[in-house]
Amino acid sequence: MVNIEKIRCQIPALIQNVYGKPLVYFDNAATSQKPQSVIDLINIMNSKTNANIHRAVHKISEEATELYEEGRESVRKFINASKREEVIFTSGTTASINLLAYTFAEKYLHEGDAVVVTECEHHSNIVPWQIVCERKGASLRVLPVDDTGNWNLDSLKSLLRDERVRLVAATQISNVLGIVNPIKDLVEISHTAGAQVLIDGAQGVVHGSVDVQDLDCEYYVFSGHKIYAATGTGILYGKEKYLEELPPFMGGGDMVDTVTFQKTTYAGLPLKFEAGTPNFIGAATYTPALKFASETKEDGYSDYEELKIDYLNTNLLSIDGLKIYGTGANKIPLFSFTVEGVHHSDLALLLDKMGIAVRSGLMCAEPLINRFGHTGMVRASLAPYNTLEECEIFMEGLKKGVSMLR
Ligand code: ALA
Repeated sequence: MVNIEKIRCQIPALIQNVYGKPLVYFDNAATSQKPQSVIDLINIMNSKTNANIHRAVHKISEEATELYEEGRESVRKFINASKREEVIFTSGTTASINLLAYTFAEKYLHEGDAVVVTECEHHSNIVPWQIVCERKGASLRVLPVDDTGNWNLDSLKSLLRDERVRLVAATQISNVLGIVNPIKDLVEISHTAGAQVLIDGAQGVVHGSVDVQDLDCEYYVFSGHKIYAATGTGILYGKEKYLEELPPFMGGGDMVDTVTFQKTTYAGLPLKFEAGTPNFIGAATYTPALKFASETKEDGYSDYEELKIDYLNTNLLSIDGLKIYGTGANKIPLFSFTVEGVHHSDLALLLDKMGIAVRSGLMCAEPLINRFGHTGMVRASLAPYNTLEECEIFMEGLKKGVSMLR
């Protein structure tokens, strides 16, 4: 059985009262709470090892550089990338996708080409592709979800029919639906049609194990702050061969080899994409954060996740007029729902007063929420450190909130 207390006691933010009630933090899809090991590293680096990386020969610069590169190695191992050159530090998932969109479009996207996104993407995996498609005279094609929130991969085959699709950009787990999507099948189908694949792993990397070599996608992106690392850090994984081919994105220090007014040559990977002083303290926190993430997935983890999922699913559906979006066997403990006659933000505000933090609204996925005919939903998203007892408190609060608002 999972030792949940051993995990929880490492996270100070979980042990606090909100409006006099013990905090029940069910907004983990937005950001997760940090373990003490991450907080300690941030403090130590700010107070002692605060020196710019890759630039100086002095001791604390060397130490900071070492911690930064250790962070990269921790990420490489965690996602099983074959080389450190394939792991690029950015400021978050959004920055990773924008970097890729601009450089990918420069290299591969021409007039008449197309990019496929899915209907359940976060805005950050829609808008950058829209912008570059517009600039290049390419089009955006959309793989729909069905009424249960699942993809129909036969529709993907028809979207790829004319071989004009250069890239398929898809989420591993939607931040609204919580369904683990069949990304391996999507990669295979896309490759057969000659398209490259970007997987948005912002939610996926937290809830499963990721092996980018097994997945075989060209690119995989995620954020640090959702997986217990510092805010303002993100990862762009790319197969070396493709990253080599892409042009640089931002120009500046550290991404160059030699600079003259006539011509500049660029640094090799990964620095080619890391211009300027990066968030080196944030990047270093991947080491303790990913160690913690692995610890949360020790013995009994899946059984406990299943228990919470079953409990929430059954109890949510027992509320009259409540509808869950995203159903099927392959769910993570993330439930977005509407309740007939109740406004999503009123419900979220009432829950907040009971010490229960959930998200409400469009969740940066307006096309998806609109597809289900709504202007907002309430979302409860759990992390491995959340307990069954918290699920009970949440259900009690939700029932109370719904009855007050009806
Ligand atoms: N993408 C984050 C969420 O789903 C912010 O809440």
